[in-house]
Amino acid sequence: MLTDNHGRKLNYLRLAVTDRCNLRCFYCMPEEGLNWLSREELMSYEEMMRACSLLVKMGIEKIRITGGEPFVRKDIMNLLAGISKLDGLKDLSMTTNGVLTAPYVTEMKKLGITDVNLSLDTLDPNRFFTITLRDEFDKVMDTMQELLRNDMTVKINAVVMAGKNTQDIIPMVELTKHLPVSVRFIEEMPFNGDGHEYKGLEWDHTRILNEIQQHFPTIKKSIDPVNSTAYNYDIPGHKGSVGIIAAYSRTFCGTCNRIRITPQGTLKNCLYDDGVMNIKDLMRAGNDDKQLERHLLTAFGKRVMDGWEAERQRVEKTGVHESMATIGG
Ligand code: GTP
Ligand code: 5AD
Ligand code: SF4
Repeated sequence: MLTDNHGRKLNYLRLAVTDRCNLRCFYCMPEEGLNWLSREELMSYEEMMRACSLLVKMGIEKIRITGGEPFVRKDIMNLLAGISKLDGLKDLSMTTNGVLTAPYVTEMKKLGITDVNLSLDTLDPNRFFTITLRDEFDKVMDTMQELLRNDMTVKINAVVMAGKNTQDIIPMVELTKHLPVSVRFIEEMPFNGDGHEYKGLEWDHTRILNEIQQHFPTIKKSIDPVNSTAYNYDIPGHKGSVGIIAAYSRTFCGTCNRIRITPQGTLKNCLYDDGVMNIKDLMRAGNDDKQLERHLLTAFGKRVMDGWEAERQRVEKTGVHESMATIGG
């Protein structure tokens, strides 16, 4: 078993395969996009495969592919096919915005991918445009239908934003009446790539829950899976369920089993650190797998426990900067 210096089990890798995205969710990145990484700066698929293979040998059991938007990267299915064959990997899943995803769903299923998190903040096409600056609502809905037709486990991620989509909370909960999806409301986090001041959180997890309870008084807490980022709830008579991710006001640090690799190969021990080593650079410098393993173990021996608390203080002092798309959430 792979553990860190605090005795926390490390078994979950979030691999961000690109910083690029075909949407412009205003809470994530500015309209003009980011300073996209060049091909040379990006990890190649061969490098990603090598990193995943080594990490799975070391004890990683779950890999979630994130972005940016993973399907924007060319030939992504080749990478998924490679990773899905790794011996010892128990779970391969993805987080996607659903714009390009529908045509790949059957192929994903064949590779054993059964768990897809879909980012969708509203059920109204106009508000979808206001939030994402792109007119792609129908494609995302097609993806949701296609995932369900293929019996995938679907979690919908909706970031709750004051003045933007709070009127969607109840309709999105209603979606769980007939569809076996988990709709998860996420507190907006201070990550949007434009360096502005953080104005504080108007809709925190308690306010979101209160709003839902007023319309669905029978809602009740269910048992959260180990290492779940969400508090989960059931509503009697509903096929799906509801989750609330207190991403801003609560810390998951105590049980954190996750490491991250960014599209340029930076290993992050914590969502909030600036990276502890660059695995791509080490590979390109000629390190063999034994040497890479030693570097990784050294990094895992220096994981912080209170990453979020330090970040909260920084955000309050110096404002928002990095985009979620550059770190994969
Ligand atoms: P699974 O447990 O594998 O389903 O992953 P998840 O639900 O964490 O993943 P997903 O990619 O759907 O992300 C959901 C939300 O949780 C996003 O807004 C993430 O940025 C946020 N999130 C993921 N990991 C962390 C974390 O370590 N800390 C905090 N504060 N938020 C996180
Ligand atoms: N706050 C909260 N969640 C965010 N995401 C992206 N940016 C933010 C933010 N600033 C979410 C996306 C996606 C997940 C990986 O991260 O909606 O579902
Ligand atoms: Fe793209 Fe996701 Fe960022 Fe929206 S939140 S711009 S879908 S990476």
